[in-house]
Amino acid sequence: MPIDFNQETKEFHLHNEFLSCLIKVLDDGSIGQVYCGAPLMPSRSYPFLSLLASHASFRRDRTLIPFEYPSGARGDYRVCAFAVQEADGSMAMDPVYHSHVIYEGKPLIPRLPSLYAEQDYEAQTLELKLFDAVSGLSLILYYTIYAGAPVIARHSRFINAGEKPLVLRKAMSLSLDLPDDNWQLMSVTGAWAHEFQLIEERISAGFQGIRSNRGNSGHQQNPFLILKRPFTSEFLGEALGVSLLYSGNFAIAVENYRSPRVQIGINDETFSWKLEEGASFDTPEALLVYTKSGGINGISQAFHAVYQEKLVRKTWRHKERPVLLNNWEGTYFNFTEEKLLAMASVAKELGIELFVLDDGWFGQRDSDDSSLGDWFVDTRKLPSGIAGLAKKITAMGLQFGLWIEPEMISRKSRLFETHPDWAVGVPGRSRTEQRNQYVLDMSRQEIVDYMVTVIANLISSAPISYIKWDMNRSITEPFSIALPPDRQGEFFHRYILGVYELYDRLTTLFPDVLFESCAGGGGRFDAGMLAFAPQAWLSDNTDALERLRIQSVASLVYPQSSWGSHVSAVPNHQTGRSTSLNFRAMVAFFGNLGFELDPTTLSPEEKKQVAACIEFYKAHRKTFQYGQFFRLSVANPSLYAAWQVSSEEETLVGFYKLLAQANCPPVRLRLTNLNGSYLYDVSIWEQGGFEAQDKTFNCGSRGGDELMSGGLLLDTTSVTKQGDFFGEIFIIKR
Ligand code: DGJ
Repeated sequence: MPIDFNQETKEFHLHNEFLSCLIKVLDDGSIGQVYCGAPLMPSRSYPFLSLLASHASFRRDRTLIPFEYPSGARGDYRVCAFAVQEADGSMAMDPVYHSHVIYEGKPLIPRLPSLYAEQDYEAQTLELKLFDAVSGLSLILYYTIYAGAPVIARHSRFINAGEKPLVLRKAMSLSLDLPDDNWQLMSVTGAWAHEFQLIEERISAGFQGIRSNRGNSGHQQNPFLILKRPFTSEFLGEALGVSLLYSGNFAIAVENYRSPRVQIGINDETFSWKLEEGASFDTPEALLVYTKSGGINGISQAFHAVYQEKLVRKTWRHKERPVLLNNWEGTYFNFTEEKLLAMASVAKELGIELFVLDDGWFGQRDSDDSSLGDWFVDTRKLPSGIAGLAKKITAMGLQFGLWIEPEMISRKSRLFETHPDWAVGVPGRSRTEQRNQYVLDMSRQEIVDYMVTVIANLISSAPISYIKWDMNRSITEPFSIALPPDRQGEFFHRYILGVYELYDRLTTLFPDVLFESCAGGGGRFDAGMLAFAPQAWLSDNTDALERLRIQSVASLVYPQSSWGSHVSAVPNHQTGRSTSLNFRAMVAFFGNLGFELDPTTLSPEEKKQVAACIEFYKAHRKTFQYGQFFRLSVANPSLYAAWQVSSEEETLVGFYKLLAQANCPPVRLRLTNLNGSYLYDVSIWEQGGFEAQDKTFNCGSRGGDELMSGGLLLDTTSVTKQGDFFGEIFIIKR
């Protein structure tokens, strides 16, 4: 049993072969957090671990055990996990143990994305019920541990079983006290076209944190945090990660007075929730993953596996994703049906499978200053409509996909003329425009219903097999005219619940349509979105060099099947950099490959190259999209990068030289996850511009032990490799 309850010591032990978490009902009825880390033997009691004290808590029972889910009202003095205000204004609630149940399987969270368990044996769940007799608040703490995975899922449910309304001021999803502060934090920051910039810092004294208050998870931050020991590397050492299955305003807090507390959940700065009598509130789900010795790659693989297997919609979780052509960088707003058909026809010749029509097909949208909300075709550009165009494209043997931005409304639009009050804003105050657009108030049911009808009609009107769902601005002037004053604090959460409902209804109506989420690139690239849209546009930055870093850092938490990676034209539109077609392709292979250029402008030689790239990708697509992904260690990360993906059939390795240096030594690239006693056949992708010497050094039969301990030998100074941005792909088969 992965969850044991010791009746005598009142200890709950959640455990599997990867981790243990111990929680204890204390004498005063409060819940103590005893331990979370490497696996401990089940069926034992751990009284001495309870002495691992938090330095900053004072408890009535004089023990020093940290609170499992601290209220802040009772002498904890550190950042609290929840705060509930009673009708008299007080916030001193003290729910204590009431009862618990342990059962097989895992419940879903109403209206929110959550991990699933299809079979009972996959997971076990503990519901720990606390009760506050004065107010009548019931608080249920949910814990699910998966069999065979180093993952615990956590969330809380607040139920007002009293007779007076309550107000939730704060409701985090997970609170974790660590026994020492010898950890380093890994998180990301960024901006548009500059997402996933890694930050590594020590836990310092006091307060550190990340949060979004923009309505979406953000380009600037991402809802996860990895903690690693100072000596932990990509492949070795202890680490743990927390992430939130949520796409709205989130917060991660680390507070440290010698023993740190880590929390993740909704950002309370922009949140409150009125709980009428009988009402309940569920927090989003948080995940905790842990590795004792597997390093950062170990944490990444735990996240990848659980998102891939227990979060992504079942229809799509193992389905190979099509190679697409998106017209955005090829034409921007300036296209005609004739132009699109010409592009599609070349795309088909090259082996592309899906043609995606991006922004600009509706209303009078010749630039980004109008028409969002007017989801009817612009017949000036597309005289035979979306249906006519889609039919012509599908008749070529391609699938057809379409861009929409359902949460938005332009001031210059028929929708705004009809429903000016549908845009988020405060009556009597001006609204801020960003990218010339406002945000629709998705907290309102009638707007969600309207959008379901509009988009469902659109998808049904034509053979559409893919939707790119964009969202190009964050929220300002947060306010809903549909909410009373004492519920305005609910706006942001209700907004994202509305978005989730829209996604849920549409993906249920069209289970076979592939939805790709996007928010000006990676502005809402999070696990919440992954539950509905199995892939997302990671960044508007399509420069291969920048993508190497963006994809590497995104892979800390997100599997490569979750991101679109496109080959675009050079000089690159975001950086002005030119790299070879092969190099661009070798980076884009690791993910869901697409092209974002005008293929009619390619020379015959380039067309041949693109076709060869696509053929190669298709032959190895399953591994590129779903293989286990590893960031390989390289001697000098400012000069080199390397990725490995491994499936049952094969291992593929991408090695990238970023910047050339004169007379630099050959590089040994050590592989991983092979079987030391097997022999492997190593070859190099012929199109990749490889250096003959590398073929001699590496190709042929090699032992798994040799490849992992000695590694591939890459001669980075030889003639063809003199120059920046050089890549090679190795294919390794047993
Ligand atoms: C932002 C997206 O990230 C781009 O790929 C493109 O779809 C534009 N929006 C269109 O407006």
